[in-house]
Amino acid sequence: MQVTVSRKAHFNAAHRLYRKDWTDQQNEAIYGKCANPHYHGHNYELIVHVTGAIDPNTGYVMDMKVLKDLIKAEVEDLLDHKNLNEQVADFFDLIPSAENIAVVIYNKLKPHLDKSHTLSVTLYETPRNFVNFSG
Ligand code: NI
Repeated sequence: MQVTVSRKAHFNAAHRLYRKDWTDQQNEAIYGKCANPHYHGHNYELIVHVTGAIDPNTGYVMDMKVLKDLIKAEVEDLLDHKNLNEQVADFFDLIPSAENIAVVIYNKLKPHLDKSHTLSVTLYETPRNFVNFSG
């Protein structure tokens, strides 16, 4: 029997979506307002889902305090109130789209979880636009 437990988190971050090898016109055509050369912020909402068996000893899939602390250490401390393009090494050569941010978050959390657990990451860039990555 597999049960999914989920934890919500939040961070604010600035980004700019652009390719250096494209003109400003090309970048604006593809990325719209997210290509703004002066950057802009998003209020990112993150939901981390961990799926596994219930431990009969604790009744938990995993201790949510452990998950909370892991998200803080690996995600919030790294991304909150940062300029993703300029301050977060993972995005120096990677476009900080919601898709890529979700993959980076997944890769930071996964090594810290029990091997028997399945991880899935849902990232809202706006209340209406969100992405999911499950490895
Ligand atoms: Ni944007």
